[in-house]
Amino acid sequence: MSELRTERLILREWRASDLAPWAAMNADPEVRAHFPEVLTREQSEVRAAAFQADLERRGWGWWAVEVRATGEFIGFTGLDPVDDDLPFTGVEAGWRLTRSAWGHGYATEAGRAALAVGFETLRLPEILAVTTATNLRSQAVMRRLGMTRDPADDFDDPDLADGPLRPCVVYRISAAVHRSLARERAGERE
Ligand SMILES: CC(C)(COP(=O)(O)OP(=O)(O)OC[C@H]1O[C@@H](n2cnc3c(N)ncnc32)[C@H](O)[C@@H]1OP(=O)(O)O)[C@@H](O)C(=O)NCCC(=O)NCCS
Repeated sequence: MSELRTERLILREWRASDLAPWAAMNADPEVRAHFPEVLTREQSEVRAAAFQADLERRGWGWWAVEVRATGEFIGFTGLDPVDDDLPFTGVEAGWRLTRSAWGHGYATEAGRAALAVGFETLRLPEILAVTTATNLRSQAVMRRLGMTRDPADDFDDPDLADGPLRPCVVYRISAAVHRSLARERAGERE
């Protein structure tokens, strides 16, 4: 699972050459609009090292994403256990792409590959996705992946003081729904 290939993307382990574009995207206020702050180069490097260590240790996590046609690093997508301080447990799917890579369907394509690993290899019963109520683009990815939101799951980010980023939403997809959507897509291709 150290590398996943989709039609247009490679989800792979992190490389030293990813660090400069990774730090640049985390310093972009538009990419960080739904996070409390932009990241310094050092914070970005620490996170990339932690993501790579997770991939080496367990074979899945936040994969670096590369466009196959150009070799360009465009961000990450993957799976991770939800943070300990959230009011629920489970494994979440997530994505973060550099601004120029938005609007191509890359997050949905990479997210679908990550869900396939979660359900078909890790045999998870369910996968979650969590974001701020304000992050409509990320929620659109969740819906495109067949995930659904129950407003009863909405919660306030325990790490943040009152403000626009505090209210969060949770989307979920079960293994059974994933299987039936995968069957539908396979039927469409025939
Ligand atoms: C969240 C994020 C990854 C979503 O990216 P995105 O590009 O909007 O999502 P997708 O990759 O699924 O692309 C969908 C768009 O590509 C378009 N598209 C173009 N070509 C396409 C293709 N071949 N296939 C599918 N969609 C295509 C779709 O029509 C859609 O456009 P729209 O947004 O105008 O409706 C991105 O906004 C981001 O990185 N944000 C900052 C970080 C962040 O907030 N991460 C989430 C934290 S929880």
